[in-house]
Amino acid sequence: MLLETSIYKEIFGNLVFHEVQKVLKIDTETASVKSSLVQNIPREEIYNLLGEMAVIIPLKDEKLQLLDGVLKAIPHKCPLIIVSGSRRESPDHFKLEVDLVKHFYSLTRTKIIMIHQKDAGLSEAFEKSGYNHILTKEGNVRDGKGEGMVIGTLLAKAIGAKFIGFIDADNYIPGSVNEYVKNYAAGFLMSESENTMVRLSWRHKPKVRKWRLYFRKWGRVSEITNRFFNLLIAEYTGFETNIIVTGNAGEHAMSTSLASSIEFSTGYSVEPYQIVFLLEQANINNNKKIKKEPVEIFQIETLNPHIHEEKGDEHLGEMIKMSLSTIYHSKLCSPSLKKQILKELQARKILEEGKEPEKPYNLPPINKIKTDEWFKNLENNSETLLILEPYIEI
Ligand code: GDD
Repeated sequence: MLLETSIYKEIFGNLVFHEVQKVLKIDTETASVKSSLVQNIPREEIYNLLGEMAVIIPLKDEKLQLLDGVLKAIPHKCPLIIVSGSRRESPDHFKLEVDLVKHFYSLTRTKIIMIHQKDAGLSEAFEKSGYNHILTKEGNVRDGKGEGMVIGTLLAKAIGAKFIGFIDADNYIPGSVNEYVKNYAAGFLMSESENTMVRLSWRHKPKVRKWRLYFRKWGRVSEITNRFFNLLIAEYTGFETNIIVTGNAGEHAMSTSLASSIEFSTGYSVEPYQIVFLLEQANINNNKKIKKEPVEIFQIETLNPHIHEEKGDEHLGEMIKMSLSTIYHSKLCSPSLKKQILKELQARKILEEGKEPEKPYNLPPINKIKTDEWFKNLENNSETLLILEPYIEI
């Protein structure tokens, strides 16, 4: 893959944000390129890494045709982890998903692990490992994509994956999914650190307008989230910046070590909160006594456009509020930035005057959980865990 070289970076203590890098050529083999402005990640290196990357698909009541396309598009070397929060009664959507996954497996022999988020054995495994934060008062696993991501991350750890990539199940363009996974691999290969995050930025997010496709550059939510992230950063550096372009990147990947050490938020705050958390943990004042592992964040602009299931406009306000609330409630947010956030939310009629956005609920890092024990408990008690390996006949 040829990518623009990342030249401009923002550095916060141990945290390095790379500027956005465009994909120039999806598939290359030559090991050297003539220009220092272009970085080559040869195809063979990408394929070698893919075997170490588990792809986690959070899934809730999506069209089966979309799930089918996503499963088929992910490179064969990547083990798949599907965490479903779908309906189980009348009609049992989860059963349809399981049937589809089994059929897909029997045709392709891809390694797959699948589980339902509300599995009683799963809540028991969390309870036994002392991770009650993910449970409701009634003792069930909470709803939410973020919660699904945590479950998927633990399953990825259990099978020894070194890297984790998240892919939404509601993507209409299977070819774009194939690119995203390779983009993740390219990001990991560019990194000099064990702790790496790769976040994708869409080249375009098309909408249907006046009976034709209109190729929007920026999603309405991400434009706002990114602006406030960049203001937050400018408050610390004293230089205005546009470095952050992936504040809401649903499609992103992490080295397993990083994914285990960060907090996961819930709802639409999950992706912006990753940045807030990392900024808060960074040794911003470069205190020599504090030793922190370097963390690199890559932002890659995809070649493919992103077309996913549109869930209506009502949730856009909620997405903006939840995204900005991660910044608003951060200890790094100054009173003046807080005021600007409130003004933005009020002007958009998302928040009443005199009110504050609710603080997002965050799940602590999973690195305290003993993964082997957790997985053993799960295997013994789960009613929905499905493990499909190439040597298993179904
Ligand atoms: N397991 C599980 N549990 N999966 C869920 C749940 C849940 O409770 N809720 C949603 N999902 C799955 C969906 O099926 C889909 O595959 C993925 O998570 C994204 O959920 P959507 O509800 O479709 O999100 P969106 O398309 O509106 O927003 C996407 O983009 C945002 C940024 O623009 C998501 O990736 C967001 O996380 C992201 O912030």
